[in-house]
Amino acid sequence: MSETEAKPMMQVDRNLALELVRVTEAAALSASRWVGKGDKNAADGAAVEAMRAAFDSVAIDGTVVIGEGEMDEAPMLYIGEKVGLYAKSGGGMRADIAVDPLEGTSITAKGGPNAMAVVALAGRGGFLHAPDVYMDKIAVGPGLPEGVVDLDRSPEENLHALAKAKGVGVGDLTVCTLDRDRHKDIIKACRAAGARLMLIPDGDVFGVVAVAQPEAGVDMYLGWGGAPEGVLAAAALRCIGGQMQGRLIFEDDTQIERAREMGITDIHAKYSMEDMAKGDVMFAATGVTTGPLLRGVRFFAGGATTHSIVMRSKSGTVRYVEGQHNFRVKPIF
Ligand code: FBP
Repeated sequence: MSETEAKPMMQVDRNLALELVRVTEAAALSASRWVGKGDKNAADGAAVEAMRAAFDSVAIDGTVVIGEGEMDEAPMLYIGEKVGLYAKSGGGMRADIAVDPLEGTSITAKGGPNAMAVVALAGRGGFLHAPDVYMDKIAVGPGLPEGVVDLDRSPEENLHALAKAKGVGVGDLTVCTLDRDRHKDIIKACRAAGARLMLIPDGDVFGVVAVAQPEAGVDMYLGWGGAPEGVLAAAALRCIGGQMQGRLIFEDDTQIERAREMGITDIHAKYSMEDMAKGDVMFAATGVTTGPLLRGVRFFAGGATTHSIVMRSKSGTVRYVEGQHNFRVKPIF
């Protein structure tokens, strides 16, 4: 189905939001055993396996549309994989699922901040079927005039417009971007305009969501990151509020061909947040390592504590969930 044909359907059962937290908690708990151990693939594998198993008890007939890769490259949670209690029998709510079982594999391997397990759910056709390419992203938080910033404007123009809308000086604004050579022009332009920067090593789902979290101290997110992460971040901002635009970046014809196969008709399209995550959307994330958004997994004798965020676009409700997991009752490891 192309992005233009996609018609998100019916209401999503609101109780599913808390089911999704179980899924991200399971992934975060498993990945957390690998924090700082220098093995990002093992950390990712643990998260994927735990998340896949946790989906089996969620009352949906789900299809993974943003996942770990193609069927032939990922053993689990691949694009097109059916998940959920009703995946085989049918009969449950049909849902599209976007997952990043471990957002920040390298961060986890190094014990850095902001690694998390992430899931989003929408009705069928609710998510842009983004291929695994880069996406150019811009995001700002809630309560600002629509269109205050735009992907097609320069960092300077966006900074001045944002400062005016917020009633502050450009020097009071902080821009978050991934610390990459490809962002040297963005970094230079922001510094020249007088803005402050938060250069993150990885994890731009956090970077985008941070614009809607005052305590994170980020006013605008800019730059290229993964397109699947872009869709997940759009789902989060749909729930928590804010504005985001994204454009897919293609580096060769093979990527373009793959995108067309996935239903992308206009390879130059500038996607709004709604284009990327439409209809009734839910988002859940559990911290693996601690950051401004979530605390990481903390172990105690016989168990562990998790910290999650779960939200829903329809109600705009944002819940933080602290889970106490008793391994003596329910052994996980
Ligand atoms: P992983 O979870 O696969 O390590 O990805 C982390 C991440 O930093 C994403 O948050 C981001 O979108 C993408 O990688 C950026 O890609 P690159 O490392 O190629 O700049």
